[in-house]
Amino acid sequence: MMMMMMKTEMAAVFVNTLLLLCCCFITSTVSQENVYAAAGEDVTLRLKNKLDSSERLYWKHNGTQIALMKSGRVVIGVDEGLGTDGSLTLRDLKKGSVEVYTSQIFKGGNLEHENTFIVRVLDKVQKPTLVATCEKHTETFKCQVPQAEGLTIAWLQDEKPLKETGPTLTRDPKKLTAESSFKCNVSNHISFEISQPVKKTCPVPDPPATKELFGFDFWTMVGILAGGGGLVLLLIIVTIVLCTRARRRRHNRLKAEGRGELEMAWSNQQQQQQQQQYQPARHGGPGLKAS
Ligand SMILES: *[C@@H]1O[C@H](CO)[C@@H](O)[C@H](O)[C@H]1NC(C)=O
Ligand SMILES: *[C@@H]1O[C@H](CO)[C@@H](O)[C@H](O)[C@H]1NC(C)=O
Repeated sequence: MMMMMMKTEMAAVFVNTLLLLCCCFITSTVSQENVYAAAGEDVTLRLKNKLDSSERLYWKHNGTQIALMKSGRVVIGVDEGLGTDGSLTLRDLKKGSVEVYTSQIFKGGNLEHENTFIVRVLDKVQKPTLVATCEKHTETFKCQVPQAEGLTIAWLQDEKPLKETGPTLTRDPKKLTAESSFKCNVSNHISFEISQPVKKTCPVPDPPATKELFGFDFWTMVGILAGGGGLVLLLIIVTIVLCTRARRRRHNRLKAEGRGELEMAWSNQQQQQQQQQYQPARHGGPGLKAS
């Protein structure tokens, strides 16, 4: 008995599961999406599924039925913008409005597809003005738009996108060349506008490498001066050395001459002395007598 009951229970569960699965397949597909439209322009809402002549199509606006197609023909809604393919064209959209449109496709009595479109009507963005200022040695770019709500701001440096977002961009002016140009790209869901390119405004002193001295490049001038100075110094040293050598040579020569004269003088004296010694000996002079 117990076994039998369990078996029937299991069978019931199985059948229920199967039914649920079948229901899932039968159940209509449902979707919802946002549609952004420009104020004053038309927008066409297209069906997600191809409509066949055995199906009925209803369009609802804010829950109220506005169009009907059946057997492949438009029954109601030509004025509402219903097309022969089942799409709905909305005209003369008012800025700022949010409207809900739903398409429903029935086959027999069953709802097969239900697609909801939330239509938001936006203004196109206006061209932004980009202003660069130098604030506390920082280059500051401000992207100005008349009405900034719901807008996305992106930045471009030399046509390449930057990762920054937001209305203000700051940069170290030392890291920018005079040619670096910036733009801001302002967008919403339906349009975008890019500002005029703007360059840096912070005055940056030229690095020493590009400084000029007497019209020459700074470092070239330093090189020339250093080279010239070196040459002058070399000349001075050479002159000193030459002078010293010349003086020493003259000194030596004088010394040598002096010594020669002395020697000559000395030998003369000796000769004279010898002559004086011999003379008295030969002539019996008073010199010898005295000694
Ligand atoms: C439709 O509903 C939205 C809010 O869901 C409302 O803002 C809009 O004015 C409604 N449109 C009409 C025509 O009633
Ligand atoms: C500006 O932004 C829009 C929206 O994000 C984008 O489609 C467009 O390519 C951007 N333009 C440039 C030049 O980056």
